Amino acid sequence: MQAPNATERLLPTPEGLARAAALLAAGELVAFPTETVYGLGGDARNGRAVAGIFAAKGRPAFNPLIVHVPDLDAARALAQVGPAAERLAAAFWPGPLTLVLPVRPEAGLSPLVTAGLPTVGVRVPAHPVAQAMLRAFCGPVAAPSANLSGRVSPTRAAHVMDGLSGRIGAVLDGGACPVGVESTIVGLSGDPTLLRPGGVPVEALEDCLGAPLAAAGPGIVAPGQLASHYAPGAAVRLNVTAPRPGELWIGFGPETLAAELSLSPTGDLVEAAANLFHILRAADAQAAGRVIAVAPVPMRGLGLAINDRLARAAAPRP
Ligand code: TXA
Ligand code: MG
Repeated sequence: MQAPNATERLLPTPEGLARAAALLAAGELVAFPTETVYGLGGDARNGRAVAGIFAAKGRPAFNPLIVHVPDLDAARALAQVGPAAERLAAAFWPGPLTLVLPVRPEAGLSPLVTAGLPTVGVRVPAHPVAQAMLRAFCGPVAAPSANLSGRVSPTRAAHVMDGLSGRIGAVLDGGACPVGVESTIVGLSGDPTLLRPGGVPVEALEDCLGAPLAAAGPGIVAPGQLASHYAPGAAVRLNVTAPRPGELWIGFGPETLAAELSLSPTGDLVEAAANLFHILRAADAQAAGRVIAVAPVPMRGLGLAINDRLARAAAPRP
């Protein structure tokens, strides 16, 4: 697990940006300014880095994260950008707008970024420091707001340090964030839908599209909270220390090495989080009618979010 003792404060000089990019490439976390709020960035292709984001924030659940890229071409490499998305991107990118688009599986994003959904939230921030960092890193950066879970979003480097000092690799100090509220989120996997109001006014989006945005139901706004938004096709049984005959057992830790699959053979919660969605899918693919039995995962650190997700996977289906 990445656990630096001291969080570096970097300035947006060529040296500071190169250091931020090097830390990201090493799988460490770097908080950086956007025009909305500071984001807590990690390499979106590195499952351990993404798991580290949830650990650093103390998030109790794996909500999908927004992926930050420098321009529309980079967005096209991650997701399918349809005609409505092209229009919105032309009008509002770079800027405080996030588009939720069908993900390209070949983009190599960690399934933890999308929380196992077939869509990904993509944003091209306008802040010059965010732009410079993304270009220096040359890869997609997953980033929620850089605050402890349940706390107010940070709009200054000092706010980031208040909550996350000692828990992340570095903060790139770009001064105060000019917008101060999070990006507007529009879902574009079906009819354009307002998922979260934010920095771009809804009226401006509707003018651009020439049509009203659909309103999302409460369950869609926070897909991570939907009871079984990613449920395997197979039935799932939890806290299984002794699988029944014919069950597909997913282990956790050294006591479960006999299991067919494992979230983490060593019992490492960061590794387990990084593997979670991938292992659930693999189990589903090889279950062939068997019940999936999952070993107990301790309720500490990322274990809370892992258990939250497992409970949703095991919840009765509608
Ligand atoms: O301004 C912002 O958007 C900031 C900066 C750092 O970019 N980021 C931010 O991230 O506010 P966060 O994690 O606090 O909020 C992300 C929101 C969540 O409500 C999540 O449910 C939604 O984006 N989201 C992300 N991916 C999604 C997806 N595939 N489908 C639906 N909603 C998604
Ligand atoms: Mg937030």
